[in-house]
Amino acid sequence: MALTRISWPLPALAAWACAWLVFVALQRIPGFPPVAALLLACLVGTVASVLGGSWWRRGLIAAGFPLSLALLGAASLPTWAWLLPLALLLLVYPLNAWRDAPLFPTPHRALHALAAQAPLAPGARVLDAGSGLGDGLMALRHAYPAAQLEGLEWSWPLRLLCALRCPWARVRRGDMWAADWSGYQLVYLFQRPESMARAAAKAQAEMAPGTWLVSLEFAVPGVLPCAQLRPASGRVVWLYRMPGAAAPGA
Ligand SMILES: C[S@@+](CC[C@H](N)C(=O)[O-])C[C@H]1O[C@@H](n2cnc3c(N)ncnc32)[C@H](O)[C@@H]1O
Repeated sequence: MALTRISWPLPALAAWACAWLVFVALQRIPGFPPVAALLLACLVGTVASVLGGSWWRRGLIAAGFPLSLALLGAASLPTWAWLLPLALLLLVYPLNAWRDAPLFPTPHRALHALAAQAPLAPGARVLDAGSGLGDGLMALRHAYPAAQLEGLEWSWPLRLLCALRCPWARVRRGDMWAADWSGYQLVYLFQRPESMARAAAKAQAEMAPGTWLVSLEFAVPGVLPCAQLRPASGRVVWLYRMPGAAAPGA
């Protein structure tokens, strides 16, 4: 995502300034509830936090506005209102998704050599399991412009942003572990090392022979990949082909 390359701490300063602007502007509307103003201003910070390239940066972007508000004592709010920033953070970064992966985007050119190693027929169905903000889908689109691209994302705000950024893909909210992978010719993951054995077992159980499981950065432990892409600068892409006869269209 180009915005993540803006030098630090500019994303934080911009997010805090926007959150304060929203808060002050809403406070000026006669009768506007201060708790709603807090909620909307925190929403600005929380959404902007996805621009932080690491956990502590995301936390700083999201927490800057509510912390500065609390320190300045610039609003009289009920005690429970201070739980709102936390609730927003949990919406964007739901706890169950933390077990699989925090939000890190696929670099846009990371998959440019993928189609040569894992060719797919036009119209093949490709899933980004845990599609985040859509960067993986964008990289997949570069690799497979004629594929039917789908994203599945646990966090509903991320799912909405992903659908906005990738209008050409079908993006749904859901749990990638509960979803059926059997209709896909390729499932792409950028998750965590700990998730890879489970993902490989699910792919083996559900995906047709000859289809592909592709993982950015993390290999399936103890399984020989069918191929690897090693871009000069960047993360390794691991390719696993489901054993058996090749599926039509794979
Ligand atoms: C590292 S990000 C990768 C985002 C995207 N695939 C990309 O490469 O740019 C991992 C994403 O997986 C999502 N996620 C984690 N566990 C999930 C689950 N069980 N079901 C659906 N999405 C999940 C997280 O919310 C996060 O957005």
